[in-house]
Amino acid sequence: MSSRTAADGITIRWSGVQQELTIKKMFKPLVQKEILKRVSGCAYAGETLAIMGPSGAGKTSLLNILAGRSPVNGGQVFVNGTAVDASILRQLSVYVMQGSKQQE
Ligand SMILES: Nc1ncnc2c1ncn2[C@@H]1O[C@H](COP(=O)(O)OP(=O)(O)OP(=O)(O)O)[C@@H](O)[C@H]1O
Ligand SMILES: [Mg+2]
Repeated sequence: MSSRTAADGITIRWSGVQQELTIKKMFKPLVQKEILKRVSGCAYAGETLAIMGPSGAGKTSLLNILAGRSPVNGGQVFVNGTAVDASILRQLSVYVMQGSKQQE
């Protein structure tokens, strides 16, 4: 068993993360939309990471996955080297959503 504690920090790594949505528009057939296409990266303990990209690039979709708020369709998320599921990510994360009242 590891002697590592939360005080040592948490490194989150994501590998090959994919997300697809099924979109239904009125009077149109269902379409599958690929939102995240095998995205990989790492947020190291003790560092601040900024994710930048144009509107619609998938920043919020990725953060929703890393915070355990959305399911992944492929790939994996690791916390300090251990593969984790959404429920663990929800326990570890605090998330201020885009467009929250805090910004007004
Ligand atoms: N619930 C949804 N239904 C349909 N499409 C969606 C949904 N959520 C996200 N998308 C699509 O997924 C893609 C990524 O969206 P996302 O909101 O993650 O981008 P973003 O980088 O956070 O953009 P912004 O800078 O505008 O906040 C976009 O093409 C968006 O239209
Ligand atoms: Mg966004």
